[in-house]
Amino acid sequence: MPKGLNILFCTSEVTPYSKTGGLADVSNSLPQELNALGHAVRIITPKYGPLDERKLRIYEIKRLTGIEVPVGDRIAICNIKSSFIVSPKGKVQVFLIENDEFFGQTSPYVDAKSGKDYPSNDERFIFYNRAVVQVLGLLGWQPDIIHCNDWQTGLIPAYIKTIHSKDPLLNSVKSVFTIHNLAFQGLFPHKSFLKSGLPDNIYNENGVEYYDQFSFLKTALNFSDIITTVSEKYAQEISASHEYGYGFEGILKKRKKDLYGILNGVDYTVWNPEKDKLIPFRYSSKELPLKRENKKALLKHFELDYDAEVPVLGVISRLTDQKGFDLVEAILKDLMSENIQLIILGTGDKTYQKIFENLKKKNPKKVGLHLGFSEELAHLIEAGSDIFLMPSKYEPCGLNQMYSLRYGTIPVVRATGGLADTISEYKNGKGNGFVFEKYEPAALLNAVRRALKLFKNREEWIKLVRQAMAYDFSWEVSAKKYVELYRSLIKKEK
Ligand code: ADP
Ligand code: GLC
Repeated sequence: MPKGLNILFCTSEVTPYSKTGGLADVSNSLPQELNALGHAVRIITPKYGPLDERKLRIYEIKRLTGIEVPVGDRIAICNIKSSFIVSPKGKVQVFLIENDEFFGQTSPYVDAKSGKDYPSNDERFIFYNRAVVQVLGLLGWQPDIIHCNDWQTGLIPAYIKTIHSKDPLLNSVKSVFTIHNLAFQGLFPHKSFLKSGLPDNIYNENGVEYYDQFSFLKTALNFSDIITTVSEKYAQEISASHEYGYGFEGILKKRKKDLYGILNGVDYTVWNPEKDKLIPFRYSSKELPLKRENKKALLKHFELDYDAEVPVLGVISRLTDQKGFDLVEAILKDLMSENIQLIILGTGDKTYQKIFENLKKKNPKKVGLHLGFSEELAHLIEAGSDIFLMPSKYEPCGLNQMYSLRYGTIPVVRATGGLADTISEYKNGKGNGFVFEKYEPAALLNAVRRALKLFKNREEWIKLVRQAMAYDFSWEVSAKKYVELYRSLIKKEK
């Protein structure tokens, strides 16, 4: 058996401490799986807002308080707190970086009052990135791999290769950068670069500069040893066209041999209808009448009538353009003319919130709407819906379509990114959902109608539901792929 690796996992969100989307789920479950494979993983993340430190078992580490981290020409103070993610898979230590000025608010990136990005996001994440590399020296623990995720961690690979290149703890460390969403790039003016403490000679096209701006994402793409993203299809898409590459397709093409697509997995200790503590009736594929009980509970929650013959379509999503809501908007009239009920859980763009509020007003008996973030409701919607809508414009991986499969809630998706890699059209008894290709309202409507038609055929529908529930997207396979990559990097060095 080769020796286990030391891996530092850097992330700007991780459940149960923070969450805006799938990154938080991945940051919780991938480290656990790596840990279960025999590697020593530690997570390092900002501690946002006032958290219930007793409930979450967050403790102070006395010797890691009052650490001075330079941000521009001032010094910010960092305290490190410690907590553990504990599950049947084992125990993973989480270091939480505390600084009330930068992370005193609960919302990670967006000011809840204005609905806009915090104006200090440059300083907030320069602070986080510098704190990570600085703290390592104090932990007395040497990682073999630093695994960074999305732009919020993008400067770490550059610090390792520049101002910390002679640091004995860091000079042999390899960095992996995972793209969860290329549309978020951490773009700031040149003056933000000056606050980073990175050397002037990397402010150029091959370094950190992106059309006269400082990009955290570009920094990561140029300085990390390996780049991964969260599905094979998305890896192809982002290096092949501007539509998906958002201007980074050039670098990604150039680094193609270092770019890998590894599909996210599902944590079936959390997303599993047989064990889910957040739903009223637990069920397996052999107990589908119990799924109906969840459907009743879901409709009751939204004060809607239950009718076994009426399919419930569920949506759980950030309400943004990425998720295809302009297509949904375009077919709402047609959708409402069908004999269906629609349940939406989401937060995000005001425009979409308004559209769904109006929809609910006009169709009070057909639509259930919760504008907000609710973990509990997300589980109930997975369990109680018949069909799950996810018509994304692009989708690096997508988790909800995989969760839906396990709950026997049939996904209707667009064939992009991870959706294309996990969902296939149900045809001649094979497949697990309904898939459309073109980003057009008619194509979405058609796919929904195919699902509605099959729903009427009870026997066939149940066959599909059972088939969907049998799909297995456990983390183990993907975690092993990450380990292979980590090892290949370390071998390269020798
Ligand atoms: P993304 O990360 O792009 O938002 P994913 O499908 O990868 O998309 O992950 C979304 C995660 O966030 C899922 O765990 C989903 O259940 C959760 N989620 C999204 N919106 C909400 C919400 N309003 N309330 C509760 N959970 C939500
Ligand atoms: C991003 C992507 C989503 C992916 C998640 C976790 O938020 O939008 O597709 O599943 O990250 O990797």
